[in-house]
Amino acid sequence: ASTLGAAAAQSGRYFGTAIASGKLGDSNYTTIANREFNMVTAENEMKIDATEPNRGQFNFSAGDRVYNWAVQNGKRVRGHTLAWYSQQPGWMQSLSGSSLRQAMIDHINGVMSHYKGKIAYWDVVNEAFADGNSGGRRDSNLQRTGNDWIEVAFRTARAADPAAKLCYNDYNIDNWSWAKTQGVYNMVKDFKQRGVPIDCVGLQSHFNSNSPYNSNYRTTISSFAALGVDVAITELDIQGGSAQTYASVVNDCLAVSRCVGITVWGVRDSDSWLGANTSPLLFDGNGNKKAAYTSVLNALNNA
Ligand code: G3I
Repeated sequence: ASTLGAAAAQSGRYFGTAIASGKLGDSNYTTIANREFNMVTAENEMKIDATEPNRGQFNFSAGDRVYNWAVQNGKRVRGHTLAWYSQQPGWMQSLSGSSLRQAMIDHINGVMSHYKGKIAYWDVVNEAFADGNSGGRRDSNLQRTGNDWIEVAFRTARAADPAAKLCYNDYNIDNWSWAKTQGVYNMVKDFKQRGVPIDCVGLQSHFNSNSPYNSNYRTTISSFAALGVDVAITELDIQGGSAQTYASVVNDCLAVSRCVGITVWGVRDSDSWLGANTSPLLFDGNGNKKAAYTSVLNALNNA
């Protein structure tokens, strides 16, 4: 196959990208995005601050622009994200305790009912674990509502849209030997044992010199999958853009049947949150295919 999406589809997987609504008027951007990818994540437009700027007043205009562009071009959509310590609107940042817990529930219900039946995977909870060696939860206003906030979010999400697959999504959970990875693994294991509805784990996979790709990545993917959840690579970028590392990431996903797809976090280097000078993506700022692109395409085609 000659595009990333078609090549991934040969093994029943998808290949996606993050889309920014403000770039949908850039034809260089949309031409590449439409040609290469068959899954779309809104880079910012479905986050809490974007969708509920005032309490109880939802705004889906930007989220719908991304959603409609994707579906009109035959792509599926990953929803990102419903409960997160960051990108909270001011009104939510100032809440605590039971009123924040209720606001979280109301937010999940409000956003998921708008997109009910339309979203393949939702990142229900994002980045809830702490960096470093504790393996425990990140401190946040949501965490301070009680340790059960994550399972409440998942139970609320299941009831709101039973058709959506529900994911826990985080960064620096790629390296199997890291405490943060083990913390998330133990939570997912516990959720599966107790029947908390969780369907997938998203490995963001932002690789850089502080959190480099490690060959135990395949163990991470297969270990999560063995718990009975799908695994998705949800925000892939590699600082420096090593073609060899990109191939390793793809091959590790292809080696695990429940690794359902890969999303890169932007189209061209110039679209990356990291800045174009770090060369993290598959297309350069002019939209030309990089060596990393060819390496990914070949890996997908050799599956
Ligand atoms: O659009 C406004 C603009 O109007 C304003 O003038 C400008 C001034 O700051 O801000 C613009 O918004 C920025 C937005 O990106 C759009 O460019 C925000 O400040 C900026 O914070 C926001 O950054 C996003 C970041 O999440 C926020 O947390 C990045 O685009 C986005 O790539 C990044 O994505 C996250 C995932 O959601 C979760 N995992 C990590 C990943 C990378 O940080």
